[in-house]
Amino acid sequence: MYKNEFDKLFEMLERTKLKKRSQKHNNCRKNFDEHHSALFGLVKPRYKSGKQISRDSRDHPEIYQEVLRIGALVCKAPFNSIQILKDLQCKAHRDSHNQNLSTVIAFGPFEGGELCIQENETSENFVAHSTKFQAIEFDGSVLTHFNLPHTGTKYSLVFFNC
Ligand SMILES: [Fe+2]
Repeated sequence: MYKNEFDKLFEMLERTKLKKRSQKHNNCRKNFDEHHSALFGLVKPRYKSGKQISRDSRDHPEIYQEVLRIGALVCKAPFNSIQILKDLQCKAHRDSHNQNLSTVIAFGPFEGGELCIQENETSENFVAHSTKFQAIEFDGSVLTHFNLPHTGTKYSLVFFNC
């Protein structure tokens, strides 16, 4: 994966104010500290059945297109949703609502921030993976995972099935 594939997306994201998610405003999960993020592709609406295209996809179609282009380059597993996270250091959690494999890749001028993934469902061992310009595929619904701290500006793309 070539670093320069991310130049356009990085530039677009730095120009765009991603929404702030925090527990105070009740739009952030318990294991996540305050951070900025966006959600593209399909979402499950809270009070309706079925799936619909996300608000961010409609508000930022040019970012959505670029994220889909990168997804086609880096993902082996199918996906219908993409989360962009900025500078989030997530605590140990599982993504119980996601189905099957997720693909994670990070970009930007940062150091650290490795993704630590449980070796298997019953193990107490975690393996640290660098996701910098490198796609990691794993089942986040059954394997606990968290990030190590990072310095600099780090964006992560999470491709998954909602
Ligand atoms: Fe996760």
